[in-house]
Amino acid sequence: MTETLLVTGGCGFIGSNFIRYVLERDNAVQVVNLDKLTYAGNPASLQDLEGTSRYHFVRGDIGDATVLATLWARFRPRAVVNFAAESHVDRSISGPDDFIHTNILGTYRLLQSALEYYRELPPQEQAGFRFHHVSTDEVFGSLGTEGAFTETTPYDPSSPYSASKAASDHLVRAWHRTFGLPVLITNCSNNYGPYQFPEKLIPLMILNGLEEKPLPVYGKGENVRDWLYVEAQCAEIYTVIQQGRVGETYNIGGQNEIPNLAVVETICDLLDELHPRDDRRSHRDLITFVTDRPGHDFRYAIDATKIRRELGWQPRHSFSSGLRRTVRWYLEHRSWWEPLRSGAYQDYYRKQYRSLHAH
Ligand code: NAD
Ligand code: DAU
Repeated sequence: MTETLLVTGGCGFIGSNFIRYVLERDNAVQVVNLDKLTYAGNPASLQDLEGTSRYHFVRGDIGDATVLATLWARFRPRAVVNFAAESHVDRSISGPDDFIHTNILGTYRLLQSALEYYRELPPQEQAGFRFHHVSTDEVFGSLGTEGAFTETTPYDPSSPYSASKAASDHLVRAWHRTFGLPVLITNCSNNYGPYQFPEKLIPLMILNGLEEKPLPVYGKGENVRDWLYVEAQCAEIYTVIQQGRVGETYNIGGQNEIPNLAVVETICDLLDELHPRDDRRSHRDLITFVTDRPGHDFRYAIDATKIRRELGWQPRHSFSSGLRRTVRWYLEHRSWWEPLRSGAYQDYYRKQYRSLHAH
């Protein structure tokens, strides 16, 4: 029997990789992708799936109760996977509004609507229903040089982005404890890989490097992130949906802690090898130190003991192989990223995909 997953934010970086991952591996699943198509949502990431019977795209907002009611009635999903969010820290500093709107209010409305649907399900379907919320390690704040985040580390978010994600996590837990909605939460470290919007560190550096533009490194480039290849997070989210204990939180990390400057230098070296400059100078010459991000968290690191012990988690990619693969992917997929760099994609998709609930 075919099961339906409602994936929100499936036109973004991780959501699109997740949909592809699930449809390629599980023939018994169909996916409904609800995405508002903000600047970060790009249907081109899943264009090859359009028109196939197990994939349905619906343009709409996770905060729109009318759209949600239509989707519950039409597709009767077995689970919801909530990726939809405003996700970029720098944008949350220059304009927090959308972060409050989607990450807090949107998550609340999605929870409330899911609860109404869940309450109407027959007991057998209730037993299998899951609401999976995709969150971030940034809710835990900043680490010094020692230690790692566990699932019980107190929340201490620094940016409007991480504060809004922290709020959404609290709402999700409250809907479980108070109303009995069967929820799961994963808090993950920095992802990288194909289809990442070129505002985030790794794709920005690859594309600026290719175009021989400055590579802006914040502060001294000493901040540390724990990098995880996106497919690994997709695999783990899918495992958690199937085997995770209801009401639990699982941390997911890459066990690849690297200072930003080293990440950028490695990208430069890969570009020197795979796409040398005409004048044969190193791409490292393009590195430019710029003013630091306000409230910039120094270091993130994940203690993945719980997910390893309970669900057998093992990171499968080394950072060097994952990064090489990612640089190659951007070199080979100009047609995906060129419209993003010029901004041309937005008008096109707004006209192409009408909103389900047109205002
Ligand atoms: P992204 O910015 O690439 O994609 C977000 C998607 O959500 C876009 O397609 C956008 O159109 C959609 N969206 C935004 N607001 C919406 C709304 N109101 N209704 C419906 N759709 C909406 O983000 P990402 O990097 O793929 O991150 C996905 C999730 O994973 C986010 O919740 C983020 O907090 C979390 N996360 C990301 C990382 C990372 O490294 N990228 C790490 C840990 C957790
Ligand atoms: O840790 C998980 C989080 O990782 C996710 O929750 C977020 O959605 C995701 O955007 C990411 O947040 P970061 O702020 O860590 O990612 P970003 O790619 O913006 O920056 C990574 C590091 O690189 C950070 O220390 C800031 C630095 N940086 C970033 C940019 C864009 C630079 O030095 N220069 C840049 O131009």
